[in-house]
Amino acid sequence: MESNLQNITFAIIKPEAIKKKLIGKITTIIEENQFEIQGITIIQMTLEKSKLFYKMHEDRPFYNDLCTYMCSGKIVAMVLKKTNAVENFRRLIGATNPKEAAKDTIRYQFGTSIEENAIHGSDSDDNANREIAFFFKKN
Ligand code: RTP
Ligand code: MG
Repeated sequence: MESNLQNITFAIIKPEAIKKKLIGKITTIIEENQFEIQGITIIQMTLEKSKLFYKMHEDRPFYNDLCTYMCSGKIVAMVLKKTNAVENFRRLIGATNPKEAAKDTIRYQFGTSIEENAIHGSDSDDNANREIAFFFKKN
C-alpha cells in the first residue's frame, strides 16, 4: 500500500474564503501543519473552466451550483508537499459539511455551508496529478 502514496496534493481556497480575506489565516494553518507550498496562484475561473474541473461530478445534483459558485470570485490554487499528502490534507480540511467537520479542521473553522466550505483538497493521487496539471502545467 505504501507505494500508492505520493507526497504531493492540490488545494483550492474557495471564493467565499477569499472574500472573507482568509488567505493569510488558511495558508498559515497549512504551513503550521508541515505542508510546503510548492506552487501558488490566484485566479478567477471561467464557467467553462469550472465545469471542466468538476466534470467528475456532472451527474451529481449540486454540479451546476458548484460550478457557478467556484467561478463567482477569485480562488487560490496550490500545490502542497508533505508525506502522504492527499490523506493528511483531507484530514486537515475535514468533512465536506463544515457542521460535521472535526473542531480543529479548516472547514470547521472557516466554512459557511456544505457548498461554501472554504477549501478543496484532492481525494486521490491520480486526481491530485490531474488537478495540478489543470492549473499549473502550461503548454
Ligand atoms: P472537495 O472536492 O471540494 O475537496 O470536497 P469533497 O471531496 O469533500 O466533496 P465532493 O463530494 O468532492 O464535492 C465537491 C464540492 O461540491 C460542493 N458540494 N455541495 N450542495 C451539496 O450537497 C454539495 N455537496 C458537495 C462542496 O463545495 C464540495 O466541496
Ligand atoms: Mg472532492
